[in-house]
Order: sequence, then structure tokens, then C-alpha cells
Amino acid sequence: MSFKITKAVIPAAGLGTRFLPATKAMPKEMLPVVDKPAIQYVVEEAVAAGLTDVLMITGRNKNALENHFDRVGELEATLLQKGDIERLRKVNYATDLAEVHYVRQGDPKGLGHAVLRARMHVGHEPFAVLLGDDIIDDRDVLLARMIEEQGLRNATIVALLEVDPSVVHMYGVATIEATETDDVVRVTGLVEKPTKENAPSNYAIIGRYVLQPEIFDILEHTKPGKGGEIQLTDALETLAANPSIAGGVYGVVFRGRRYDTGDRLDYIKAIVQLAVERDDLGPDLRPWLKEFAKDLK
Ligand code: G1P
Repeated sequence: MSFKITKAVIPAAGLGTRFLPATKAMPKEMLPVVDKPAIQYVVEEAVAAGLTDVLMITGRNKNALENHFDRVGELEATLLQKGDIERLRKVNYATDLAEVHYVRQGDPKGLGHAVLRARMHVGHEPFAVLLGDDIIDDRDVLLARMIEEQGLRNATIVALLEVDPSVVHMYGVATIEATETDDVVRVTGLVEKPTKENAPSNYAIIGRYVLQPEIFDILEHTKPGKGGEIQLTDALETLAANPSIAGGVYGVVFRGRRYDTGDRLDYIKAIVQLAVERDDLGPDLRPWLKEFAKDLK
């Protein structure tokens, strides 16, 4: 039986140590990418794919996240008084975007553990997981395509990107077989952050998943893996190796634009890439950037 997927789970409990001290008192998901916090891009993506029920798995610094998706009366009143309707619209847009729920992770025991915290909210339905470090360009479709495949195959779907073999150690990496559909592969095995030598391919999981609810039982029994953490990839490997449990695992191969905000260098690149394409900033930024780059040693 196929369900209409309505729920998105967004893990946001990481400590953000790569961005200290900016993340000392603020979750890394609130770091601005141009003029929006990274997390808002991800929520917008979920909403664009039809998912309006968002569950965030948060940690100690969750206040800023909750405030961002809530009303802020004083600011709204000030903007209204000034007649700054454009900014008021931006403020309200984030508030009205989706129905956002929160659950705390408690001990940060890894991505698999974070996803397991969604069990009560999700119940027995397929659901999406979106990781905040990856931003998918809103002109390219990924999540809606994954949801479509989930409905057709009644299976687990991961997003795969072909990466340079030198960076496979940063990702969950898939063993794949072609299917009858050009952008879909069958995933027969998964390994979390392998060395270049041990990687089964250069097809890396980027942070989008459409999961069957059976993942919860598997996560309950998944032992700590890489880095001593309960890894979502390890639970997915169990599903890939036992396709009779919940239809196995398939990958939608993404060939669009994706921005990584996971570390400082990629974060800076993401901001520049997104800003040069914006109508309000691009026309001034592009010539400045060219000029600036000319003198770079
Ligand atoms: C996580 C997952 C990994 C996946 C990656 C995508 O790793 O564990 O399998 O490839 O996200 O961004 P992290 O980047 O949180 O270390």
C-alpha cells in the first residue's frame, strides 16, 4: 500500500564544532547563507516537495531555531509601523512556511540515533529526512523525484551524487546496479565513510532520504559504527542487504546543483555561488568578483 508522504524530519542537533566560535551559542543551522539561515532553505525544499509537517531533531541550542519559525510580534509591529511591507513579508514567510515540531535528541549519539527520535511523531508511514548541510538549488528537482520513486517501488530511496573518488571518505557510499530508469539505481550495499581504496563506487549519499518506517526497528538494533556513532548508513545497509524486509534501497542519481555548507570553505563557496545568481545581488557582485579575482595571487 502506498502512503502520501507528508512528514519531513530534519536533524539539527549537531554541535557545529567546525564553525566555532560562531556556533558557541547558536546552532550551525542558523548560520546565514546570503540572507537566510541554512535551515530555512531546507524547510523550503521540503515544503516545495509537498511536505508541510516538519519535525526538527534539536539539541541544546534549539531556541534560535524555534524563534526563527515562530511569530516575532515586536519586529512585525515595527516593520508594519514603518510601512516596510517587503521585509515584513520575509519575516512572516518563515513563520507560515510549515508546521514545525521539535524533539530533542538528548545524547548526540549520531545521525541514526537522531532519526530514531522521530519514531513517535512519524508513526508507521514513509517519511523524508533532509540534512541541513546540503542545500539543493530550488531550480532543480530532487526530493519530489525521490518521493515519486518511493511511491512506485514501495522502497527506501536515497539521493546519490557522483563525487570525485578523493572525497568518498566524507560520505556514505553505495554499491549500485542499473535499473530500467535512467536516474534510478538499485543499492545493494552501503558503507559509511570508506577510504578511497575500500569505496565500492563514487556514488555518495547526499543528505536526502525517503525512508520506510521499518527503519526504526532496524535503528533500534544498529550498533555504533564509524566514529562510535549510530549511523543511518549502517541501518540502510541492513535494508539493502535484506530487500524482503521493506522493498530494499534505491538511489535517485542527482545531477543538479547542490551546495555544501558543512565546512567553512564549502560554506563560503555556497554563499558566493548563490549570491551571484540572485537578481538583487548578482548584478553588483559579479563585476566586483571578477575585478577582485584578477588581483588574486
Ligand atoms: C552524513 C551521513 C553520510 C552522508 C552525509 C551527506 O554524514 O552520515 O552517510 O553521506 O551526511 O551529507 P555527515 O556529513 O553528517 O558527517
